[in-house]
Amino acid sequence: MTTMADRLYRPQAEVVFNHALPGGHGRMRLLVGELAALARPGHFVHLQCDPSLTLPRPFSLLDADPDNGTVDLFYRIVGRGTEFMAAWRAGERTTLLMPVGRCFASSPPGADILLIAGGAGMAPLHFLARRLGMPCTFLWGIETELPMELPFACRLASRAAFPGRFQGFVTELAARHVTPNTYIYACGPHPMLQAVSRLGPSGQVSLEERMACGFGGCAACVAPIRDPQTTSGWQYRKICSDGPVFSIGEVAWEHDAPPH
Ligand SMILES: Cc1cc2nc3c(=O)[nH]c(=O)nc-3n(C[C@H](O)[C@H](O)[C@H](O)COP(=O)(O)OP(=O)(O)OC[C@H]3O[C@@H](n4cnc5c(N)ncnc54)[C@H](O)[C@@H]3O)c2cc1C
Ligand code: FES
Repeated sequence: MTTMADRLYRPQAEVVFNHALPGGHGRMRLLVGELAALARPGHFVHLQCDPSLTLPRPFSLLDADPDNGTVDLFYRIVGRGTEFMAAWRAGERTTLLMPVGRCFASSPPGADILLIAGGAGMAPLHFLARRLGMPCTFLWGIETELPMELPFACRLASRAAFPGRFQGFVTELAARHVTPNTYIYACGPHPMLQAVSRLGPSGQVSLEERMACGFGGCAACVAPIRDPQTTSGWQYRKICSDGPVFSIGEVAWEHDAPPH
């Protein structure tokens, strides 16, 4: 069972740095003070990107440093919110909701940990790998030039030919690493996660959906989750408050649709 923070906070945060990265990505460090100590891998922040945007935008934590009171985000510029973010400089202030969602739970003792990331889904797995404190295999499917070097061994996959990368889907690369002792953590686009669910091993996935409130109040962010208590065997649950982390077996993948 994954755990959720006892309560949500809405602090003011200050940008420490905001680096443009290759492939239309960015890495931002935010000063959030003692709230950084509450951050766990799998948590996300719901970030106000600009006063002109009614809705905040959700971003997983790439890292957290309780000693310095900071959290890091890794983002891909895809629309208005992330364009505003990319323009921020050190000293910019914003508000956010944190720490949102249920974080990753521990793996079974002695399992071989396989981390499978797709695109910006690298962020929560980066944080997890940093906190695991044990060897793991980290695979990252990325279709652009490498946005950032990771501080641990990582194998890259791309459908396009890039020197040194596995050519194909990251899940095809993952299939080569699966053993009877494998336990998976994954985050990425829906089709990737559906392919992960077909790999066989148990594990956990961090789901993404468009969000509105970010705290379970509006049902904008649902995913089909198995529930033996219902006649259909599944029901919609809220990704922001019941997730974003679910066990692979909990998700009713046959009813799962990509984000609208
Ligand atoms: C729990 C969670 C964690 C996330 N973590 C990260 C992260 O660490 N780094 C990162 O870059 N992105 C992350 N995302 C996705 C990120 O929230 C969106 O890319 C962002 O909201 C886009 O805002 P925008 O205003 O720039 O784009 P918009 O103008 O809102 O949308 C631009 C395009 O992106 C698509 N899009 C928007 N939101 C999502 C979504 N949630 N899932 C899939 N497609 C979407 C839209 O359909 C549209 O095609 C996360 C999403 C969730 C739910
Ligand atoms: S975004 Fe409102 S319930 Fe999840």
